[in-house]
Amino acid sequence: MKTLNNDINEVLVSEADLKKINARLGAQITEDFRDKNLLVVGILKGSVYFMTDLTRNIDLPLKIDFLAVSSYGSGTRSSGSVKIIKDIDIDLEGYDVLLIEDILDSGRTLQYVSKMLSARNAKSITICTLLDKPARRVVDLTPDYVGVDVPDEFVVGYGLDYDQQYRNLPYIGSLKREIYE
Ligand code: IMP
Ligand code: MG
Repeated sequence: MKTLNNDINEVLVSEADLKKINARLGAQITEDFRDKNLLVVGILKGSVYFMTDLTRNIDLPLKIDFLAVSSYGSGTRSSGSVKIIKDIDIDLEGYDVLLIEDILDSGRTLQYVSKMLSARNAKSITICTLLDKPARRVVDLTPDYVGVDVPDEFVVGYGLDYDQQYRNLPYIGSLKREIYE
């Protein structure tokens, strides 16, 4: 029988860790966006699990929207070029946008997306990433909120995929090398 757990080398962020991260970030965002006009924008598909848990920890009125970009194919390294596959529906004028990403790696995706959204008259753009791999950054980008730093290993679960699989793993783990090498 094929199971997901069998393909995981090590658990890096457990379900209990994720719960604590969401509580901490949710409380911080609730504090920081008290008098703002909050629009939470998730980058599909990786941010979905994180975004649904995080927003349930934000005790403020807010709207949600999504956009989809392509950067990875089926490999484990970013291609470097970013393309919008699905745009948001809401007109950004007057909103304080909180961009939600699963993992910040080279930084190219978030740099591209935040530049594109800033050109549309949002009141402000703030970046929240669940995971950060600071060792791999190639562009100058510092996230406003980070769940936790991870080492330079390929990680899956809680929304993050390898070749569109493993997103439904309830924790974040490093993938066994034999799976992608
Ligand atoms: P960046 O543009 O290089 O910062 O890449 C960010 C995107 O690459 C994320 O949205 C992920 O989809 C993907 N990515 C980067 N590292 C990993 C990883 O370790 N596991 C799964 N996806 C990853
Ligand atoms: Mg992604």
